[in-house]
Amino acid sequence: MNMRSHYCGELGVGHAGQAVEVCGWVNGLRDHGGVIFIDLRDREGIVQVVCNPDQPAVFAVAEKARAECILRATGALRIRPEGTANPDLKTGDVELVAESLEILSAARDLPFHHGEGASEELRLKYRYLDLRRPEMLDRLRLRHRAIAAIRAFLDQRGFVDVETPMLTRATPEGARDFLSPARNRPGRFYALPQSPQLFKQLLMMSGLDRYYQIVRCFRDEDLRSDRQPEFTQLDVEMSFVDEEDVMGLMEALVREVFSGVLDVELPDPFPRMNYAEAMQRFASDAPDLRNPLELVELSGIFADSEFKVFSAPARDPGCRVAALKIPGGGGMTRRELDELTGFVQAMGAKGMAWIKVADPAMGRDGMQSPVLKFLADDEIAALLEKTGPAAGDLLLFGAGAAAIVNRTLSALRDRLGKERDLIGGGWAPVWITEFPGFEFDEDEKRWKALHHPFTAPGVTAPGELLESPARASSRAYDLVLNGHEIGGGSVRIHQREMQAAVFELLGLSAEEADRQFGFFLKALDYGVPPHGGIAFGLDRWVMLMAEAESIREVIAFPKTQSGACPLTDAPAAVEPRQLRELGLRPL
Ligand code: AMO
Ligand code: AMP
Repeated sequence: MNMRSHYCGELGVGHAGQAVEVCGWVNGLRDHGGVIFIDLRDREGIVQVVCNPDQPAVFAVAEKARAECILRATGALRIRPEGTANPDLKTGDVELVAESLEILSAARDLPFHHGEGASEELRLKYRYLDLRRPEMLDRLRLRHRAIAAIRAFLDQRGFVDVETPMLTRATPEGARDFLSPARNRPGRFYALPQSPQLFKQLLMMSGLDRYYQIVRCFRDEDLRSDRQPEFTQLDVEMSFVDEEDVMGLMEALVREVFSGVLDVELPDPFPRMNYAEAMQRFASDAPDLRNPLELVELSGIFADSEFKVFSAPARDPGCRVAALKIPGGGGMTRRELDELTGFVQAMGAKGMAWIKVADPAMGRDGMQSPVLKFLADDEIAALLEKTGPAAGDLLLFGAGAAAIVNRTLSALRDRLGKERDLIGGGWAPVWITEFPGFEFDEDEKRWKALHHPFTAPGVTAPGELLESPARASSRAYDLVLNGHEIGGGSVRIHQREMQAAVFELLGLSAEEADRQFGFFLKALDYGVPPHGGIAFGLDRWVMLMAEAESIREVIAFPKTQSGACPLTDAPAAVEPRQLRELGLRPL
Protein backbone atom coordinates (compact mmCIF):
# COMPACT_ATOMS: atom_id res chain seq x y z
CA MET A 1 0.00 0.00 0.00
CA ASN A 2 1.28 3.44 -0.85
CA MET A 3 1.64 5.73 2.13
CA ARG A 4 0.65 8.71 0.03
CA SER A 5 -1.40 9.63 -2.98
CA HIS A 6 0.57 12.71 -4.06
CA TYR A 7 3.75 14.66 -3.40
CA CYS A 8 3.01 17.72 -1.25
CA GLY A 9 4.51 20.04 -3.84
CA GLU A 10 2.55 18.74 -6.80
CA LEU A 11 -0.90 19.57 -5.42
CA GLY A 12 -2.84 22.32 -7.14
CA VAL A 13 -6.24 23.67 -8.06
CA GLY A 14 -6.79 20.63 -10.28
CA HIS A 15 -6.85 18.40 -7.20
CA ALA A 16 -9.41 20.48 -5.30
CA GLY A 17 -12.22 18.39 -3.90
CA GLN A 18 -10.14 15.19 -3.90
CA ALA A 19 -9.19 13.15 -0.85
CA VAL A 20 -5.39 13.18 -0.69
CA GLU A 21 -2.69 11.58 1.45
CA VAL A 22 0.69 13.24 1.82
CA CYS A 23 3.89 12.60 3.82
CA GLY A 24 6.63 15.07 4.55
CA TRP A 25 8.78 17.13 6.89
CA VAL A 26 7.37 19.97 8.95
CA ASN A 27 8.87 23.02 7.30
CA GLY A 28 7.12 25.44 9.63
CA LEU A 29 4.14 25.72 11.98
CA ARG A 30 1.81 28.58 12.83
CA ASP A 31 -0.80 28.59 15.57
CA HIS A 32 -3.52 31.05 14.53
CA GLY A 33 -5.82 31.29 17.50
CA GLY A 34 -7.07 27.77 17.65
CA VAL A 35 -6.22 26.68 14.11
CA ILE A 36 -2.75 25.20 13.49
CA PHE A 37 -1.27 25.61 10.01
CA ILE A 38 1.53 23.24 9.11
CA ASP A 39 3.74 23.69 6.07
CA LEU A 40 4.51 20.14 5.02
CA ARG A 41 7.50 19.69 2.71
CA ASP A 42 8.73 16.93 0.45
CA ARG A 43 11.12 17.01 -2.48
CA GLU A 44 8.52 18.53 -4.79
CA GLY A 45 7.62 21.44 -2.54
CA ILE A 46 5.37 22.55 0.31
CA VAL A 47 1.65 22.29 0.95
CA GLN A 48 -0.30 23.90 3.76
CA VAL A 49 -2.10 21.48 6.10
CA VAL A 50 -4.93 22.98 8.16
CA CYS A 51 -5.55 21.39 11.58
CA ASN A 52 -8.86 22.43 13.12
CA PRO A 53 -9.78 21.98 16.80
CA ASP A 54 -13.07 20.36 15.73
CA GLN A 55 -10.91 17.33 14.82
CA PRO A 56 -9.53 16.65 18.34
CA ALA A 57 -7.32 13.70 17.29
CA VAL A 58 -5.74 15.74 14.49
CA PHE A 59 -5.35 18.77 16.70
CA ALA A 60 -3.65 16.80 19.47
CA VAL A 61 -1.03 15.51 17.02
CA ALA A 62 -0.54 18.96 15.49
CA GLU A 63 0.17 20.37 18.93
CA LYS A 64 2.99 17.85 19.34
CA ALA A 65 4.53 18.41 15.89
CA ARG A 66 7.95 20.10 15.76
CA ALA A 67 10.09 21.48 12.96
CA GLU A 68 11.48 18.71 10.73
CA CYS A 69 9.47 15.87 12.25
CA ILE A 70 7.77 13.71 9.64
CA LEU A 71 3.98 13.66 9.34
CA ARG A 72 1.43 11.78 7.30
CA ALA A 73 -1.73 13.78 6.67
CA THR A 74 -4.91 12.79 4.92
CA GLY A 75 -7.92 14.88 4.13
CA ALA A 76 -9.68 16.85 1.45
CA LEU A 77 -7.81 19.33 -0.69
CA ARG A 78 -9.65 22.60 -1.02
CA ILE A 79 -9.21 25.98 -2.68
CA ARG A 80 -8.02 28.41 -0.01
CA PRO A 81 -10.66 30.85 1.27
CA GLU A 82 -10.85 34.23 -0.45
CA GLY A 83 -7.85 36.43 0.41
CA THR A 84 -5.68 33.72 1.95
CA ALA A 85 -3.89 32.43 -1.16
CA ASN A 86 -0.08 32.57 -0.93
CA PRO A 87 1.44 33.65 -4.25
CA ASP A 88 4.98 32.75 -3.01
CA LEU A 89 4.08 29.08 -2.82
CA LYS A 90 3.64 26.84 -5.86
CA THR A 91 0.67 25.21 -4.08
CA GLY A 92 -0.45 28.52 -2.58
CA ASP A 93 -3.97 28.41 -4.00
CA VAL A 94 -4.91 25.25 -2.13
CA GLU A 95 -4.70 23.68 1.33
CA LEU A 96 -5.26 20.26 2.81
CA VAL A 97 -7.82 20.14 5.62
CA ALA A 98 -6.54 17.32 7.80
CA GLU A 99 -8.91 14.52 8.71
CA SER A 100 -6.12 12.36 10.09
CA LEU A 101 -2.59 13.22 11.10
CA GLU A 102 0.17 10.97 12.41
CA ILE A 103 3.77 11.52 13.37
CA LEU A 104 5.87 9.01 11.44
CA SER A 105 9.14 10.18 12.94
CA ALA A 106 9.98 12.75 15.58
CA ALA A 107 12.84 15.27 15.33
CA ARG A 108 14.98 16.70 18.10
CA ASP A 109 16.06 20.32 18.27
CA LEU A 110 18.08 20.96 15.13
CA PRO A 111 21.70 22.17 14.93
CA PHE A 112 20.42 24.62 12.28
CA HIS A 113 17.23 25.21 10.37
CA HIS A 114 17.01 25.71 6.58
CA GLY A 115 20.81 26.07 6.56
CA GLU A 116 20.54 29.45 8.27
CA GLY A 117 23.59 30.72 10.13
CA ALA A 118 25.43 27.42 9.73
CA SER A 119 29.12 27.34 8.86
CA GLU A 120 30.09 25.10 5.97
CA GLU A 121 31.74 22.73 8.45
CA LEU A 122 28.43 22.35 10.31
CA ARG A 123 26.47 22.00 7.09
CA LEU A 124 28.76 19.17 6.03
CA LYS A 125 28.59 17.49 9.45
CA TYR A 126 24.81 17.37 9.19
CA ARG A 127 24.78 17.07 5.42
CA TYR A 128 21.45 15.18 5.41
CA LEU A 129 19.82 18.25 7.02
CA ASP A 130 21.63 20.60 4.67
CA LEU A 131 20.52 18.59 1.64
CA ARG A 132 16.86 18.93 2.71
CA ARG A 133 17.00 22.54 1.55
CA PRO A 134 15.16 22.78 -1.78
CA GLU A 135 18.08 24.51 -3.50
CA MET A 136 20.39 21.66 -2.51
CA LEU A 137 18.01 18.96 -3.73
CA ASP A 138 17.49 20.97 -6.91
CA ARG A 139 21.25 20.93 -7.55
CA LEU A 140 21.44 17.16 -7.14
CA ARG A 141 18.54 16.80 -9.53
CA LEU A 142 20.15 19.19 -12.00
CA ARG A 143 23.29 17.05 -11.87
CA HIS A 144 21.18 13.97 -12.49
CA ARG A 145 19.51 15.55 -15.51
CA ALA A 146 22.86 16.63 -16.95
CA ILE A 147 24.20 13.09 -16.57
CA ALA A 148 21.05 11.61 -18.11
CA ALA A 149 21.40 13.97 -21.10
CA ILE A 150 25.09 13.09 -21.47
CA ARG A 151 24.38 9.36 -21.43
CA ALA A 152 21.56 9.68 -23.96
CA PHE A 153 23.73 11.74 -26.34
CA LEU A 154 26.68 9.36 -26.17
CA ASP A 155 24.54 6.24 -26.35
CA GLN A 156 22.90 7.50 -29.54
CA ARG A 157 26.34 7.93 -31.07
CA GLY A 158 27.66 4.47 -30.35
CA PHE A 159 29.73 5.15 -27.23
CA VAL A 160 30.11 2.19 -24.88
CA ASP A 161 30.26 2.74 -21.11
CA VAL A 162 33.11 0.65 -19.66
CA GLU A 163 34.32 0.59 -16.06
CA THR A 164 38.03 0.69 -15.32
CA PRO A 165 39.90 -0.27 -12.12
CA MET A 166 39.96 1.83 -8.97
CA LEU A 167 42.75 -0.23 -7.41
CA THR A 168 45.51 0.27 -9.92
CA ARG A 169 48.98 1.68 -10.62
CA ALA A 170 49.96 5.33 -10.69
CA THR A 171 48.28 7.12 -13.63
CA PRO A 172 50.31 10.29 -14.13
CA GLU A 173 48.21 13.46 -14.38
CA GLY A 174 50.60 15.59 -12.37
CA ALA A 175 49.12 15.29 -8.86
CA ARG A 176 50.14 13.16 -5.88
CA ASP A 177 48.59 9.69 -5.69
CA PHE A 178 46.30 8.28 -3.04
CA LEU A 179 47.80 4.93 -2.10
CA SER A 180 46.26 1.86 -0.59
CA PRO A 181 48.52 -0.81 0.90
CA ALA A 182 48.12 -4.33 -0.53
CA ARG A 183 47.65 -6.82 2.32
CA ASN A 184 48.76 -9.83 0.33
CA ARG A 185 51.86 -8.14 -1.05
CA PRO A 186 53.56 -6.44 1.91
CA GLY A 187 55.41 -3.31 0.83
CA ARG A 188 53.31 -2.92 -2.29
CA PHE A 189 50.57 -0.39 -2.89
CA TYR A 190 47.68 0.14 -5.20
CA ALA A 191 47.25 3.70 -6.40
CA LEU A 192 43.76 5.13 -6.85
CA PRO A 193 43.49 6.43 -10.44
CA GLN A 194 44.07 10.13 -11.13
CA SER A 195 42.16 9.38 -14.35
CA PRO A 196 41.44 6.31 -16.49
CA GLN A 197 43.86 7.65 -19.13
CA LEU A 198 45.89 4.48 -19.76
CA PHE A 199 42.90 2.16 -19.57
CA LYS A 200 40.87 4.13 -22.06
CA GLN A 201 43.78 4.06 -24.49
CA LEU A 202 44.08 0.30 -23.95
CA LEU A 203 40.36 0.04 -24.76
CA MET A 204 41.04 1.74 -28.10
CA MET A 205 43.79 -0.85 -28.71
CA SER A 206 41.16 -3.48 -27.83
CA GLY A 207 38.99 -2.28 -30.69
CA LEU A 208 36.15 -0.74 -28.64
CA ASP A 209 36.29 2.33 -30.93
CA ARG A 210 34.14 4.67 -28.82
CA TYR A 211 34.36 4.64 -25.01
CA TYR A 212 32.91 6.77 -22.26
CA GLN A 213 32.65 6.55 -18.50
CA ILE A 214 31.36 8.78 -15.73
CA VAL A 215 34.11 7.99 -13.33
CA ARG A 216 35.56 9.00 -10.00
CA CYS A 217 39.17 10.25 -10.08
CA PHE A 218 41.49 10.79 -7.13
CA ARG A 219 44.15 13.45 -6.80
CA ASP A 220 45.96 14.36 -3.63
CA GLU A 221 46.47 18.05 -4.35
CA ASP A 222 45.82 21.39 -2.69
CA LEU A 223 42.09 22.03 -2.74
CA ARG A 224 40.30 25.09 -4.06
CA SER A 225 36.70 26.01 -4.69
CA ASP A 226 36.78 24.06 -7.95
CA ARG A 227 38.94 21.16 -6.79
CA GLN A 228 38.17 18.10 -4.69
CA PRO A 229 40.44 15.16 -3.84
CA GLU A 230 37.88 12.86 -5.41
CA PHE A 231 35.93 14.27 -8.30
CA THR A 232 33.99 12.98 -11.26
CA GLN A 233 35.07 13.01 -14.86
CA LEU A 234 33.07 12.43 -17.96
CA ASP A 235 35.84 10.51 -19.70
CA VAL A 236 35.71 9.93 -23.47
CA GLU A 237 37.98 8.27 -26.03
CA MET A 238 37.54 7.70 -29.78
CA SER A 239 39.49 5.78 -32.46
CA PHE A 240 40.46 6.94 -35.96
CA VAL A 241 39.90 10.60 -35.16
CA ASP A 242 41.79 13.87 -35.13
CA GLU A 243 41.26 16.89 -32.89
CA GLU A 244 38.49 18.30 -35.09
CA ASP A 245 36.40 15.13 -34.68
CA VAL A 246 36.72 15.14 -30.90
CA MET A 247 36.15 18.86 -30.45
CA GLY A 248 33.24 18.92 -32.90
CA LEU A 249 31.37 16.08 -31.24
CA MET A 250 32.12 17.21 -27.71
CA GLU A 251 30.93 20.75 -28.22
CA ALA A 252 27.73 19.35 -29.74
CA LEU A 253 27.36 17.34 -26.52
CA VAL A 254 27.85 20.42 -24.33
CA ARG A 255 25.36 22.38 -26.42
CA GLU A 256 22.79 19.60 -26.17
CA VAL A 257 23.13 19.34 -22.39
CA PHE A 258 22.74 23.11 -21.96
CA SER A 259 19.78 23.27 -24.28
CA GLY A 260 18.06 20.15 -22.91
CA VAL A 261 18.62 20.85 -19.23
CA LEU A 262 18.74 24.65 -18.97
CA ASP A 263 17.05 25.70 -22.18
CA VAL A 264 20.17 27.73 -22.97
CA GLU A 265 21.48 27.88 -26.54
CA LEU A 266 25.28 28.06 -26.62
CA PRO A 267 27.11 29.39 -29.70
CA ASP A 268 27.64 27.06 -32.65
CA PRO A 269 30.53 26.62 -33.18
CA PHE A 270 32.31 27.48 -29.93
CA PRO A 271 34.93 30.18 -30.37
CA ARG A 272 38.55 29.03 -30.40
CA MET A 273 41.72 30.73 -29.32
CA ASN A 274 45.24 29.44 -29.37
CA TYR A 275 47.31 29.34 -26.22
CA ALA A 276 49.65 32.13 -27.33
CA GLU A 277 46.75 34.53 -27.95
CA ALA A 278 45.07 33.61 -24.65
CA MET A 279 48.26 34.36 -22.73
CA GLN A 280 48.91 37.57 -24.69
CA ARG A 281 45.42 39.00 -24.19
CA PHE A 282 44.32 37.49 -20.88
CA ALA A 283 47.49 36.14 -19.25
CA SER A 284 45.61 32.92 -18.63
CA ASP A 285 44.90 29.67 -20.44
CA ALA A 286 41.41 29.65 -18.94
CA PRO A 287 40.14 33.18 -19.58
CA ASP A 288 36.66 34.29 -18.65
CA LEU A 289 35.63 35.93 -21.91
CA ARG A 290 32.67 37.62 -20.23
CA ASN A 291 35.22 39.90 -18.58
CA PRO A 292 35.96 42.80 -20.98
CA LEU A 293 39.37 43.66 -19.43
CA GLU A 294 42.33 42.84 -21.68
CA LEU A 295 46.09 43.15 -21.36
CA VAL A 296 48.14 45.42 -23.58
CA GLU A 297 51.65 44.21 -24.44
CA LEU A 298 54.21 46.95 -23.81
CA SER A 299 57.57 45.18 -24.10
CA GLY A 300 58.06 46.84 -27.50
CA ILE A 301 57.86 50.41 -26.24
CA PHE A 302 59.95 50.14 -23.09
CA ALA A 303 62.99 48.17 -24.34
CA ASP A 304 65.16 51.31 -24.31
CA SER A 305 63.56 53.06 -21.37
CA GLU A 306 65.57 54.66 -18.58
CA PHE A 307 63.10 53.05 -16.18
CA LYS A 308 64.88 49.77 -15.36
CA VAL A 309 61.75 48.21 -13.81
CA PHE A 310 60.31 48.19 -17.34
CA SER A 311 63.33 48.09 -19.66
CA ALA A 312 65.10 45.07 -18.12
CA PRO A 313 62.13 42.70 -18.53
CA ALA A 314 61.20 44.31 -21.87
CA ARG A 315 64.53 43.08 -23.26
CA ASP A 316 64.42 39.61 -21.71
CA PRO A 317 62.59 36.93 -23.76
CA GLY A 318 61.52 35.10 -20.58
CA CYS A 319 59.88 38.27 -19.27
CA ARG A 320 57.08 40.58 -20.28
CA VAL A 321 55.80 44.08 -19.61
CA ALA A 322 52.06 44.52 -19.91
CA ALA A 323 49.30 46.80 -18.71
CA LEU A 324 45.71 46.29 -17.72
CA LYS A 325 43.41 49.23 -18.42
CA ILE A 326 40.64 49.69 -15.86
CA PRO A 327 37.83 51.90 -17.23
CA GLY A 328 36.89 54.48 -14.61
CA GLY A 329 39.60 53.12 -12.28
CA GLY A 330 41.15 56.59 -11.94
CA GLY A 331 38.86 57.13 -8.98
CA MET A 332 40.66 54.53 -6.87
CA THR A 333 42.21 55.86 -3.71
CA ARG A 334 45.85 55.52 -2.75
CA ARG A 335 44.80 53.05 -0.08
CA GLU A 336 42.98 50.87 -2.64
CA LEU A 337 46.02 50.93 -4.93
CA ASP A 338 48.30 49.99 -2.03
CA GLU A 339 46.00 47.12 -1.21
CA LEU A 340 46.12 45.90 -4.83
CA THR A 341 49.91 46.21 -4.74
CA GLY A 342 49.97 43.98 -1.65
CA PHE A 343 47.69 41.53 -3.45
CA VAL A 344 50.12 41.10 -6.37
CA GLN A 345 53.17 41.13 -4.10
CA ALA A 346 51.72 38.18 -2.20
CA MET A 347 51.75 36.35 -5.55
CA GLY A 348 55.40 37.10 -6.19
CA ALA A 349 55.39 40.46 -8.02
CA LYS A 350 57.96 43.02 -6.95
CA GLY A 351 55.52 45.88 -7.27
CA MET A 352 52.62 47.29 -9.27
CA ALA A 353 53.25 50.53 -11.10
CA TRP A 354 50.05 52.45 -11.91
CA ILE A 355 49.06 55.56 -13.84
CA LYS A 356 45.83 57.48 -13.45
CA VAL A 357 44.76 59.15 -16.67
CA ALA A 358 42.70 62.27 -16.00
CA ASP A 359 42.89 63.63 -19.56
CA PRO A 360 44.72 61.65 -22.24
CA ALA A 361 44.72 64.64 -24.61
CA MET A 362 47.07 66.49 -22.23
CA GLY A 363 49.74 63.76 -22.33
CA ARG A 364 52.04 63.75 -19.30
CA ASP A 365 50.21 66.69 -17.72
CA GLY A 366 46.93 64.83 -17.82
CA MET A 367 48.34 61.85 -15.90
CA GLN A 368 49.21 61.11 -12.33
CA SER A 369 51.66 58.47 -11.09
CA PRO A 370 54.84 58.01 -9.06
CA VAL A 371 56.53 56.44 -12.11
CA LEU A 372 55.80 59.24 -14.62
CA LYS A 373 59.05 60.97 -13.82
CA PHE A 374 60.99 57.89 -15.03
CA LEU A 375 59.28 57.81 -18.43
CA ALA A 376 60.35 59.77 -21.53
CA ASP A 377 57.85 61.81 -23.55
CA ASP A 378 57.95 59.45 -26.52
CA GLU A 379 57.34 56.50 -24.19
CA ILE A 380 54.30 58.21 -22.72
CA ALA A 381 52.99 59.01 -26.20
CA ALA A 382 53.47 55.38 -27.29
CA LEU A 383 51.84 54.15 -24.07
CA LEU A 384 48.77 56.34 -24.64
CA GLU A 385 48.52 55.18 -28.20
CA LYS A 386 48.79 51.48 -27.31
CA THR A 387 46.43 51.50 -24.35
CA GLY A 388 43.98 54.17 -25.58
CA PRO A 389 42.69 55.27 -22.18
CA ALA A 390 39.64 57.49 -21.76
CA ALA A 391 39.52 60.27 -19.18
CA GLY A 392 39.25 58.71 -15.71
CA ASP A 393 40.87 55.37 -16.60
CA LEU A 394 43.59 53.62 -14.65
CA LEU A 395 46.56 51.67 -16.04
CA LEU A 396 48.06 48.89 -13.92
CA PHE A 397 51.44 47.47 -14.92
CA GLY A 398 53.12 44.13 -14.55
CA ALA A 399 56.80 43.78 -15.42
CA GLY A 400 59.13 40.86 -14.83
CA ALA A 401 59.27 37.09 -15.31
CA ALA A 402 56.44 36.13 -17.68
CA ALA A 403 55.07 33.51 -15.29
CA ILE A 404 54.70 36.04 -12.46
CA VAL A 405 53.32 38.84 -14.65
CA ASN A 406 50.76 36.42 -16.08
CA ARG A 407 49.76 35.10 -12.69
CA THR A 408 49.35 38.56 -11.16
CA LEU A 409 47.72 40.35 -14.08
CA SER A 410 45.22 37.53 -14.65
CA ALA A 411 44.38 37.58 -10.93
CA LEU A 412 43.94 41.38 -11.09
CA ARG A 413 41.78 40.98 -14.17
CA ASP A 414 39.54 38.45 -12.43
CA ARG A 415 39.36 40.38 -9.19
CA LEU A 416 38.70 43.82 -10.65
CA GLY A 417 36.30 42.38 -13.20
CA LYS A 418 34.21 41.02 -10.33
CA GLU A 419 34.62 43.92 -7.90
CA ARG A 420 33.78 46.51 -10.50
CA ASP A 421 30.84 44.53 -11.86
CA LEU A 422 32.30 44.32 -15.35
CA ILE A 423 31.51 40.66 -15.95
CA GLY A 424 28.38 40.22 -17.99
CA GLY A 425 25.96 37.36 -17.51
CA GLY A 426 25.52 34.49 -19.89
CA TRP A 427 27.88 31.82 -21.08
CA ALA A 428 31.30 32.10 -22.64
CA PRO A 429 32.68 28.78 -23.85
CA VAL A 430 36.02 28.82 -25.65
CA TRP A 431 38.40 26.10 -26.86
CA ILE A 432 42.03 26.77 -26.08
CA THR A 433 44.28 25.05 -28.63
CA GLU A 434 47.93 24.76 -29.72
CA PHE A 435 49.39 24.40 -26.27
CA PRO A 436 53.13 24.13 -25.96
CA GLY A 437 53.97 20.48 -25.37
CA PHE A 438 56.78 20.83 -22.90
CA GLU A 439 58.15 23.44 -20.56
CA PHE A 440 61.61 23.57 -19.08
CA ASP A 441 61.38 23.78 -15.31
CA GLU A 442 64.22 26.11 -14.32
CA ASP A 443 64.12 25.08 -10.67
CA GLU A 444 64.23 21.36 -11.27
CA LYS A 445 66.31 21.71 -14.47
CA ARG A 446 64.18 19.29 -16.44
CA TRP A 447 61.48 19.19 -19.08
CA LYS A 448 57.90 18.80 -17.98
CA ALA A 449 54.84 17.91 -20.03
CA LEU A 450 52.07 20.52 -19.93
CA HIS A 451 49.47 17.81 -20.41
CA HIS A 452 50.02 14.17 -19.53
CA PRO A 453 52.85 12.33 -21.33
CA PHE A 454 50.51 10.42 -23.68
CA THR A 455 49.56 13.56 -25.61
CA ALA A 456 50.78 13.58 -29.21
CA PRO A 457 53.35 16.31 -29.95
CA GLY A 458 52.85 18.53 -32.98
CA VAL A 459 55.90 16.90 -34.63
CA THR A 460 55.83 13.41 -36.14
CA ALA A 461 59.50 12.40 -35.84
CA PRO A 462 60.77 11.41 -32.36
CA GLY A 463 64.21 12.86 -33.26
CA GLU A 464 62.68 16.25 -34.03
CA LEU A 465 61.01 16.29 -30.63
CA LEU A 466 64.21 15.46 -28.76
CA GLU A 467 66.20 18.07 -30.71
CA SER A 468 63.97 21.03 -30.00
CA PRO A 469 61.36 20.23 -27.33
CA ALA A 470 60.49 23.88 -26.80
CA ARG A 471 59.30 24.13 -30.39
CA ALA A 472 57.09 21.05 -30.26
CA SER A 473 53.51 22.11 -29.69
CA SER A 474 51.05 19.52 -28.45
CA ARG A 475 47.85 18.29 -30.02
CA ALA A 476 45.91 19.14 -26.87
CA TYR A 477 42.78 21.22 -26.34
CA ASP A 478 40.97 22.52 -23.29
CA LEU A 479 37.37 23.61 -23.07
CA VAL A 480 36.97 26.71 -20.92
CA LEU A 481 33.59 27.97 -19.72
CA ASN A 482 33.26 31.29 -17.91
CA GLY A 483 36.89 31.17 -16.81
CA HIS A 484 36.89 27.55 -15.62
CA GLU A 485 38.66 24.73 -17.40
CA ILE A 486 35.80 22.26 -17.66
CA GLY A 487 37.53 19.77 -19.93
CA GLY A 488 40.84 18.84 -21.46
CA GLY A 489 42.04 16.26 -23.90
CA SER A 490 44.26 15.50 -26.84
CA VAL A 491 45.14 13.33 -29.76
CA ARG A 492 47.37 10.59 -28.33
CA ILE A 493 50.69 9.13 -29.27
CA HIS A 494 50.12 5.83 -31.05
CA GLN A 495 53.66 4.88 -32.01
CA ARG A 496 55.94 3.23 -29.50
CA GLU A 497 59.04 5.18 -30.65
CA MET A 498 57.36 8.53 -30.03
CA GLN A 499 56.06 7.41 -26.65
CA ALA A 500 59.55 6.26 -25.68
CA ALA A 501 61.00 9.61 -26.87
CA VAL A 502 58.55 11.54 -24.67
CA PHE A 503 59.49 9.45 -21.64
CA GLU A 504 63.16 10.07 -22.45
CA LEU A 505 62.57 13.82 -22.73
CA LEU A 506 60.83 13.81 -19.36
CA GLY A 507 63.91 12.26 -17.82
CA LEU A 508 62.68 8.70 -17.44
CA SER A 509 65.47 6.22 -18.14
CA ALA A 510 64.57 3.29 -20.40
CA GLU A 511 64.53 1.03 -17.31
CA GLU A 512 62.35 3.42 -15.34
CA ALA A 513 59.92 3.82 -18.27
CA ASP A 514 59.80 0.06 -18.59
CA ARG A 515 59.23 -0.44 -14.86
CA GLN A 516 56.40 2.12 -14.68
CA PHE A 517 54.82 1.85 -18.12
CA GLY A 518 56.25 -1.35 -19.63
CA PHE A 519 52.78 -2.87 -19.95
CA PHE A 520 51.61 0.17 -21.89
CA LEU A 521 54.70 0.42 -24.14
CA LYS A 522 54.32 -3.26 -24.95
CA ALA A 523 50.68 -2.73 -25.94
CA LEU A 524 51.87 -0.12 -28.46
CA ASP A 525 53.59 -2.98 -30.36
CA TYR A 526 50.44 -4.87 -31.26
CA GLY A 527 48.34 -2.63 -33.50
CA VAL A 528 47.19 0.76 -32.24
CA PRO A 529 44.51 2.84 -33.95
CA PRO A 530 45.17 6.58 -34.07
CA HIS A 531 43.00 7.84 -31.24
CA GLY A 532 42.13 10.82 -29.09
CA GLY A 533 39.72 11.93 -26.42
CA ILE A 534 38.87 14.27 -23.62
CA ALA A 535 37.78 14.35 -20.00
CA PHE A 536 35.34 16.85 -18.54
CA GLY A 537 35.33 17.85 -14.90
CA LEU A 538 31.68 16.98 -14.38
CA ASP A 539 31.48 18.68 -10.97
CA ARG A 540 32.79 21.93 -12.44
CA TRP A 541 30.47 21.72 -15.40
CA VAL A 542 27.43 21.20 -13.13
CA MET A 543 28.67 23.88 -10.70
CA LEU A 544 28.56 26.38 -13.55
CA MET A 545 25.16 25.19 -14.74
CA ALA A 546 23.86 25.54 -11.17
CA GLU A 547 25.53 28.96 -10.83
CA ALA A 548 27.05 27.68 -7.58
CA GLU A 549 30.14 29.16 -5.96
CA SER A 550 31.95 25.89 -5.35
CA ILE A 551 31.92 22.32 -6.60
CA ARG A 552 31.09 21.30 -3.02
CA GLU A 553 27.59 22.64 -3.66
CA VAL A 554 26.94 20.08 -6.41
CA ILE A 555 28.51 17.05 -4.69
CA ALA A 556 26.25 15.23 -2.22
CA PHE A 557 28.98 14.41 0.29
CA PRO A 558 32.06 16.54 -0.43
CA LYS A 559 35.30 17.03 1.52
CA THR A 560 36.32 20.28 3.21
CA GLN A 561 39.24 22.38 1.97
CA SER A 562 41.52 20.27 4.15
CA GLY A 563 40.28 17.03 2.60
CA ALA A 564 38.23 15.91 5.60
CA CYS A 565 34.63 14.69 5.77
CA PRO A 566 32.99 16.24 8.86
CA LEU A 567 30.03 13.84 8.51
CA THR A 568 31.94 10.57 8.80
CA ASP A 569 35.09 12.09 10.29
CA ALA A 570 37.21 10.55 7.53
CA PRO A 571 40.14 10.19 7.31
CA ALA A 572 40.03 8.19 10.54
CA ALA A 573 42.57 6.38 12.69
CA VAL A 574 42.61 2.58 12.35
CA GLU A 575 43.24 -0.27 14.76
CA PRO A 576 46.88 -1.31 15.34
CA ARG A 577 45.78 -4.79 14.28
CA GLN A 578 44.77 -3.47 10.85
CA LEU A 579 48.13 -1.78 10.45
CA ARG A 580 49.97 -4.98 11.39
CA GLU A 581 47.97 -6.94 8.82
CA LEU A 582 49.08 -4.46 6.19
CA GLY A 583 52.67 -4.63 7.30
CA LEU A 584 52.59 -0.98 8.43
CA ARG A 585 53.99 0.46 11.66
CA PRO A 586 51.95 2.93 13.75
CA LEU A 587 53.27 6.52 13.68
P1 AMO B 1 42.75 16.71 -16.78
O1 AMO B 1 43.79 16.42 -15.77
O2 AMO B 1 42.81 18.01 -17.51
O3 AMO B 1 42.76 15.61 -17.93
O4 AMO B 1 41.33 16.55 -16.10
C1 AMO B 1 40.13 16.74 -16.85
C2 AMO B 1 39.20 17.71 -16.15
O5 AMO B 1 38.91 17.29 -14.82
C3 AMO B 1 38.68 18.41 -14.00
N1 AMO B 1 39.53 18.29 -12.79
C4 AMO B 1 39.09 18.42 -11.53
N2 AMO B 1 37.88 18.70 -11.03
C5 AMO B 1 37.73 18.74 -9.70
N3 AMO B 1 38.73 18.52 -8.82
C6 AMO B 1 39.98 18.23 -9.26
N4 AMO B 1 40.95 18.00 -8.36
C7 AMO B 1 40.20 18.19 -10.68
N5 AMO B 1 41.28 17.94 -11.45
C8 AMO B 1 40.86 18.00 -12.74
C9 AMO B 1 38.99 19.65 -14.82
C10 AMO B 1 39.79 19.10 -15.97
O6 AMO B 1 39.62 19.86 -17.13
N6 AMO B 1 43.19 12.06 -18.66
C11 AMO B 1 43.09 13.47 -18.99
C12 AMO B 1 41.99 13.73 -20.00
C13 AMO B 1 42.33 13.31 -21.40
O7 AMO B 1 43.46 13.61 -21.86
O8 AMO B 1 41.45 12.74 -22.05
C14 AMO B 1 42.78 14.24 -17.73
O9 AMO B 1 42.50 13.71 -16.68
O10 AMO B 1 37.76 20.19 -15.27
P1 AMP C 1 60.93 50.77 -7.29
O1 AMP C 1 61.95 51.12 -8.32
O2 AMP C 1 61.01 49.36 -6.79
O3 AMP C 1 60.71 51.79 -6.24
O4 AMP C 1 59.54 50.77 -8.12
C1 AMP C 1 59.08 51.93 -8.78
C2 AMP C 1 57.63 51.71 -9.15
O5 AMP C 1 57.52 50.59 -10.02
C3 AMP C 1 56.74 51.42 -7.96
O6 AMP C 1 55.48 52.06 -8.22
C4 AMP C 1 56.57 49.92 -8.00
O7 AMP C 1 55.31 49.52 -7.48
C5 AMP C 1 56.65 49.64 -9.48
N1 AMP C 1 57.20 48.32 -9.71
C6 AMP C 1 58.29 47.73 -9.15
N2 AMP C 1 58.49 46.50 -9.61
C7 AMP C 1 57.49 46.28 -10.50
C8 AMP C 1 57.11 45.19 -11.33
N3 AMP C 1 57.82 44.05 -11.35
N4 AMP C 1 56.02 45.31 -12.11
C9 AMP C 1 55.30 46.45 -12.12
N5 AMP C 1 55.60 47.50 -11.36
C10 AMP C 1 56.68 47.45 -10.57
